[in-house]
Parts: sequence; structure tokens; C-alpha cells
Amino acid sequence: MKQRLSFPNGRQVLNLGQGTWRMGEDDSNRMKEIEALRTGIDNGLTLIDSAEMYAEGKAESVAGEAIKPYKRDDLFLVSKVYPTNAGEEHMFESCENSLKRLGVNELDMYLLHWPGHIPLQETVDCFEELKRQGKIRAWGVSNFDLEEMQELLSLNNGENCQTNQVLYHLASRGIEVVLHDYLKANNIPIMAYCPIIGQEPDLKEKVHNSPAVKQIAAQHNISIVQLLLAFVMQQEQMIAIPKAGSKDHVIQNRDVLDIKLSNEELALLDEAFPVPDKRVPLRMQ
Ligand SMILES: NC(=O)c1ccc[n+]([C@@H]2O[C@H](COP(=O)([O-])OP(=O)(O)OC[C@H]3O[C@@H](n4cnc5c(N)ncnc54)[C@H](OP(=O)(O)O)[C@@H]3O)[C@@H](O)[C@H]2O)c1
Repeated sequence: MKQRLSFPNGRQVLNLGQGTWRMGEDDSNRMKEIEALRTGIDNGLTLIDSAEMYAEGKAESVAGEAIKPYKRDDLFLVSKVYPTNAGEEHMFESCENSLKRLGVNELDMYLLHWPGHIPLQETVDCFEELKRQGKIRAWGVSNFDLEEMQELLSLNNGENCQTNQVLYHLASRGIEVVLHDYLKANNIPIMAYCPIIGQEPDLKEKVHNSPAVKQIAAQHNISIVQLLLAFVMQQEQMIAIPKAGSKDHVIQNRDVLDIKLSNEELALLDEAFPVPDKRVPLRMQ
């Protein structure tokens, strides 16, 4: 279901973007990956999520090549810094390298990839300095559980955090116990990674074999992957960032913008894949 979301700073995005993990790993796929990303952009999926970690920068290079024909202002570019680089010593260089690989002067959003050992206040200060230097428009975090978010929001300028990118899909709903409500209360949208269970074959199989999932996908005449995406995109304050390495997959994912699940269907999915009844640690890939 198509929704437009606002970050706390007022910037708006569609609730469907494009991931890039595993792009750039095999040069023989490069043209296909570029074509996939361009198909997405042509279809309004202008948020592209990358990281210095992905293929050690090569995913950013693929994205950089893909975005060349487009106007910079029509894109929303997200990248992430390794926790070990997220301090005064390395963060400015890391950001500069990401900008070079992407071929742009400024990131729309720069995220701390996961919590690390560099004091969080130092990371926040570096993010704010990068904003002052015009290298990033905004910043956020990834893989932050409740206590880490609480600490972040208590820091000087911590309230400038724009998003928390976390793992979320139909078969991994732990964030619905408290984290999602906390973020909603603070007006911080989630970027949901692995929305179509890209990295967990066993869980994926379980979902694909679920009678409820099969029935609802058949009712809408969509694939199970499309149903998984529809489920994530129907959540409040959530942007799904599936990675698709082919034009066909991108088009199938874009088509989910037109799918709306009914309350009855959502209830069936709740029954088949319930929210845990108590808090569980935040999962990470
Ligand atoms: N912050 C973090 O720590 C973190 C961690 C993991 C991921 N991420 C971000 O989130 C993005 C998405 O997560 P993910 O890539 O791990 O998993 P995902 O998006 O859940 O799944 C990706 C897999 O789904 C396949 N796929 C895509 N569209 C499809 C379709 N319509 N039909 C069938 N299969 C389809 C892809 O195959 P093809 O490539 O063949 O299309 C790929 O194998 C990443 O790319 C990355 O940007 C962030």
C-alpha cells in the first residue's frame, strides 16, 4: 500500500525503497544490477540504501553508476558507516569515500550501521559536523534496540536522529512489542530491512508453506514475496527497502504499491505469525 512518510526534519519519502546489499559482489551482474536500480528509480523508488560495508564499497559504486542519468534532487541516498569508523578519527574519511563512490556531494541520510564501542555522543557530534559541512543532509541509526534509542535521544542533538533501520518481516515481529511504538511516539520512521526474508532460508520456507500466506496471496493474485512486502508496507511509519537484482523483481515489488490487505487478512497473518508475547532481543543480519 502506497504511503508517503515524513522524517522528523520534514523530508518525505515513499514507503518503498531499494536495498543494495550483495550488489557489486560479482562484476558479471553489474549491468543487470544497474538496470534494476534504474528501473526502480523510473518507477518512483528513489530511496536507495547502501553502506560502506556492502562489497566493501562496490555496492555504492554500482548505485553511483545507476544514478548518473538522474537529477540529484530526485533521489534519496542513504549510506552507512561501520561502527569502528564512527568517530572523529575515521568518520569524515568514510563519508568522503562513500560520496566519491556514489558520485555525489551530499548524502540524504547517513546511518550508524550498528551500535559499536565509540561513545555515541562522539558519533552524534561527527554526524552534526558532517551536516554543517554539507556532506550529509540528515543522519540516523541502524540495529538500535529500545535502550540504545533511549540513550541516543538523551544525548546532545540526539533528537536529530531521523530513522532506525532494523530487521522486520512477517516472521520476525519482535519490534512490535515495544520498539516500534517507542519510535512512533518519537515520530521516527523505521526502515525495514530484509522485508522479504532475503537472508533466512528456513524462515522463508516456513512462510512460503503457510496455508494462510498462500491463501491470501492467491486472493490477490500476487506472489508470496509480494505478499510479504505488502505486509511490511502496510505498517505505520515504515519504509521497506527490499533488494532486487533484476528488472522483473523490481517491477513486481513496485506493483505492491497498489496492494491493500484487509483487516481480515491481516488478522489471519497475525494468527499464523504472531507478535511475540514478550520482548525479544532485536534481531540482526
Ligand atoms: N542495516 C542493516 O544492518 C541491514 C542488514 C541487511 C540488509 N540491509 C538493507 O536492506 C536491504 C534488503 O535486505 P536484504 O537484501 O537482506 O533482503 P530482502 O530484501 O528481504 O531480500 C532480497 C532477496 O529477495 C530477492 N527478491 C527481490 N525481489 C523479489 C521478487 N519480487 N520475487 C522474488 N525474489 C525477490 C532478491 O533476489 P534478486 O537479487 O535475484 O532480485 C534477493 O535474493 C539490503 O539490500 C540492504 O540495503 C540492511
